[in-house]
Amino acid sequence: MAVTHATTSTAFRAERIDTESKWYDLFQKGVELGTWDVEKLFDEVGFEADREILASLEPAERTQIRYLLSGFLDGEFAVGEDASHHLQRIAGAPCFDDNEEMEMYMTMFTLTEHKHTQFIDVYMHEVLGEQDAFADLNPKRGGARVPIVQATGLGDVYDRQGQLTARAAHSTDPVDIAKALTVYHMIVEGLLARGGFYSINKLSGNAPLPLLNHGFKFISTDEGRHITHGVEALSELIEKERAGEPEFQGVSRAIVDVLYENVASIADFGYMFTDAVDDPLEIGFDDLLLRVGRLIDGQFNEALDLDVDHHRVVGLVADRHQECLETDVDDAVREYRKLYRRKRAADGGRDDD
Ligand SMILES: [Fe+2]
Ligand SMILES: [Fe+2]
Repeated sequence: MAVTHATTSTAFRAERIDTESKWYDLFQKGVELGTWDVEKLFDEVGFEADREILASLEPAERTQIRYLLSGFLDGEFAVGEDASHHLQRIAGAPCFDDNEEMEMYMTMFTLTEHKHTQFIDVYMHEVLGEQDAFADLNPKRGGARVPIVQATGLGDVYDRQGQLTARAAHSTDPVDIAKALTVYHMIVEGLLARGGFYSINKLSGNAPLPLLNHGFKFISTDEGRHITHGVEALSELIEKERAGEPEFQGVSRAIVDVLYENVASIADFGYMFTDAVDDPLEIGFDDLLLRVGRLIDGQFNEALDLDVDHHRVVGLVADRHQECLETDVDDAVREYRKLYRRKRAADGGRDDD
């Protein structure tokens, strides 16, 4: 395969656990690197410097940061939930070798996703102030989505991730699993989250927020391991397909199809914090797209050795971007807020109108 993940040369051997498995290696890396303590980070760095810098920014600049973090808040919550409910079961599917070690790794994986939600949720509340995130609505799913996430359509990709991971967890069919892991690891983590990290790095030139940058350094390191896990798991399925195993036929096709079906979500996410808010912190939608284009080549063509049609991808994202430009997102945000408030009133919840 094109991808081989170097395993650490652990000196330890065991009886039930294969300490030479690549999943064991990722588990151990997760234990070493993924146990950063969110509350300790808050104590050590504190909120004050970030609050002061944010207070010195223009309102439009603050909005841009809030929108960017809103995409992460809903995204991290969704991946944490789908990891807990579905990925853990997928790791036990018969189509994978080394299930024990993969299941061990998934516990670290899920823990880090919940910590990402913890960091972003507390940060937004403590630093940006109460945003009315409608958390009282739909409490089983951590609250209704942030209105801007719904208004741009970004929420749809999180819904599809939920549907595809649920289906794969129940069927344990290799083609269903390939679809689920593609939307989860390759699109949401590999393209959306990485595009978001790129944007946070870029805006830190104009708004150097120490706590935010610290937290996201940890989050992006964690996500690097998650994407490695996704590439390894998909490579294993592709390898079995190419070896001619009947139940794996269709895996490569499914991966590429899921990319085409979901890649336009890049435009939804980018629109939220670039053009929609006039990009005061100068992140630049075109630069973001170039970066994402390189990521697609790296993940799909190089790492997975597939054949993605670059022009088709660019066309899909450009078309969706055009649709976003023609939509009144501010108006859609107001509509979602109204809808949520009506639902809150109907639920007999708090009345803040
Ligand atoms: Fe995450
Ligand atoms: Fe992740």
